[in-house]
Amino acid sequence: MEAILPRTNKAQQQGEHWRPPVFAPNVTPRQQRFAHLRRLVDLQAGSIWNDLRVALATVRGTVLDVGCGAQPYRPLLPQGVQYVGIDNADAKSHFGYQFPDVIYFSGETWPIPSTSVDVVLATETLEHVLDPQSFLSQAHRCLRPGGGLIMTVPFAARWHFVPYDYWRYTPSALHYLLTQAGFQNVAVYSRGNPLTVASYKAMSLLLPLVFPEGGTLIGRVGLRAIGLLSLPLLAVLALIGNVSLKSDWGDDCLGFTVIAHRPGNSTTDFESGVTP
Ligand SMILES: C[S@@+](CC[C@H](N)C(=O)[O-])C[C@H]1O[C@@H](n2cnc3c(N)ncnc32)[C@H](O)[C@@H]1O
Repeated sequence: MEAILPRTNKAQQQGEHWRPPVFAPNVTPRQQRFAHLRRLVDLQAGSIWNDLRVALATVRGTVLDVGCGAQPYRPLLPQGVQYVGIDNADAKSHFGYQFPDVIYFSGETWPIPSTSVDVVLATETLEHVLDPQSFLSQAHRCLRPGGGLIMTVPFAARWHFVPYDYWRYTPSALHYLLTQAGFQNVAVYSRGNPLTVASYKAMSLLLPLVFPEGGTLIGRVGLRAIGLLSLPLLAVLALIGNVSLKSDWGDDCLGFTVIAHRPGNSTTDFESGVTP
């Protein structure tokens, strides 16, 4: 049967119409100022930062950051924590990430000994993994008994890094997958609420005008002019979005922050959890 609908066949799409800049390391004062500014308009990044600031504050021992990209949340780790960043060998070609202190690996098995880490961190990675069950089993294998998994996934986020963005997970799916992998005490927290999502989506319409990509120079200048006029509206939406992150209601959200444990005698301190 031939394609019959007069619209684009999205199964053949190989890129995005607009892509925000990829994350950069967050180490020098200049990088930190830029990251701070970005978090005010990028509600996904801001809400993840807010949750991880709480969840990572009490971790100890070795933290394994899987799919670490540019390691944007590494500065939140307390002093004395040993950090190990690993990423898929396709990180550069598919995502634009390549850094010297990252271990790149191919295949499904992580290059980490079993029961050797205290915490596995995986931010905005599980939606890019074709076999999430195998990924979570690796996390379980690498954790010491009682060790913890801290993970974030997007929910109301646009399709990104096309075509390497495969899934959106609900809390029910996350609970099922984690339990199947052997985790217990699974907690899933919303990041934001319907008002945050509305602000985020409205900002997503305006940001490509302020930072136009592609097209002709004249077209980009025209879009930028409209975008600059919309800056006051963008600022109001950013304010509403950031304030809305403080309340916990509704069945829509930007994404989820997930905490779970490998069964064992002692659990990690961070199980006191994430507060809205
Ligand atoms: C959207 S980026 C997130 C990067 C970083 N964690 C962050 O929060 O900015 C997705 C990351 O997942 C990694 N990734 C994709 N498939 C993977 C897999 N099977 N195992 C481990 N990492 C994977 C990519 O290489 C990329 O670095």
